[in-house]
Amino acid sequence: MFESLDALAADAILKLIAEHQQDTRAHKVDLGVGVYRDQHGRTPVLSSVKKAERYLVEHQDTKAYLGSGGDPVFNDQMQRITFGDASSGNDRITTLQTPGGSGSLRIAAGLLLRARPDCRVWISDPSWNNHVPLLGGAGLRLEKYPYYDAATRGLRFDDMMAKLATVPAGDVVLMHACCHNPTGLDPSPEQWRQVADLVVERNLVPFVDIAYQGFATGLDEDALPVRLLEDRVPEMLVSSSCSKNFGLYRDRVGVLSLLSADAKTNTAVRSQAYQIVRTMYSVPPDHGCAVVSHILRDKALRAEWIGELAEMRGRLKAMRRLLVDALGQHAPGHDFSHVIGANGMFSFLGVSPEQVQRLKSDYAVYMVDSGRINVAGITPGNVEYLAKSIAAVL
Ligand SMILES: Cc1ncc(COP(=O)(O)O)c(C=O)c1O
Repeated sequence: MFESLDALAADAILKLIAEHQQDTRAHKVDLGVGVYRDQHGRTPVLSSVKKAERYLVEHQDTKAYLGSGGDPVFNDQMQRITFGDASSGNDRITTLQTPGGSGSLRIAAGLLLRARPDCRVWISDPSWNNHVPLLGGAGLRLEKYPYYDAATRGLRFDDMMAKLATVPAGDVVLMHACCHNPTGLDPSPEQWRQVADLVVERNLVPFVDIAYQGFATGLDEDALPVRLLEDRVPEMLVSSSCSKNFGLYRDRVGVLSLLSADAKTNTAVRSQAYQIVRTMYSVPPDHGCAVVSHILRDKALRAEWIGELAEMRGRLKAMRRLLVDALGQHAPGHDFSHVIGANGMFSFLGVSPEQVQRLKSDYAVYMVDSGRINVAGITPGNVEYLAKSIAAVL
């Protein structure tokens, strides 16, 4: 049977990770993989997470199955983070624990297909490179709306609005709440208000992917699109991930929140979502969710986590500034100011695939072919070398 299967090319990002690992040049720089790094190039376990794990080792008294929706206490905490405290107990919202943001997106896809099999989902051009295989692979019909202008290295806001104004009522629009992947460019608060007005006016179904909450401005600020829409639309889907803001990448922690027109519909939506989970992985993984739940409920740990999140956010901003300053010295004729205006870990540097290849082969500087960089790979120790290398291939 298996002989009928063709071998697939290695995933581009996994291939890049392997190439970087095998590279023996001491000065190599990794701007590829999408994880946070500290100034020593490490992806640390947060101190708040370590403390919560110690607490769980001592106090967790069962690992019996959870239900398909996961732990209601964790779900409530997560819902409050994204929708605000007032959303707790709202009988129009169901939040269920999922294996990371990816698991959340996949359950959302299953639900959309059950609710409306021919539904179309509009995604930004470009978008996270797993949105298409993940959502399209699940069977959804995907369409694109303009987002990034390679010529100006800015947001195509007017084009995006013009396109969304033509999207038929009832279609789903996927939006990155903050720290857009791969561009790092987010609409301003005023632009988000305009997007929200258009979504309401045209009766579109918002689907918000919030994988970097707290990495742009702050927890509440980064949830702006959700907060602007929750009271104004009958239906909304929100996929949240704790991979980045809690550094729990491999523990698979996330939620899917589903807003329905009324409590009765919400009961039906919840039962359908639970059944999709039951037939896919039965119950969600718990350890990382239990860690997050404990941190969010413990006043001191929560404050510590918020401090650690602010530190990560601050470092990312500082590294953007450092790179642009260094490029100003080594590549004075070129404008990289768009890197400072972006949020979170990613930006398009604005280099060609050939320049990406030369950076890799001649300078041991690794980034994905599109020229997307993860600014978390920059440190005060490598920024000079990095800027000189980029200048050399321009
Ligand atoms: C935009 C976006 N959404 C969702 C995810 C999923 O994250 P995870 O499944 O690791 O929680 C990512 C991860 O990189 C992302 O960039």
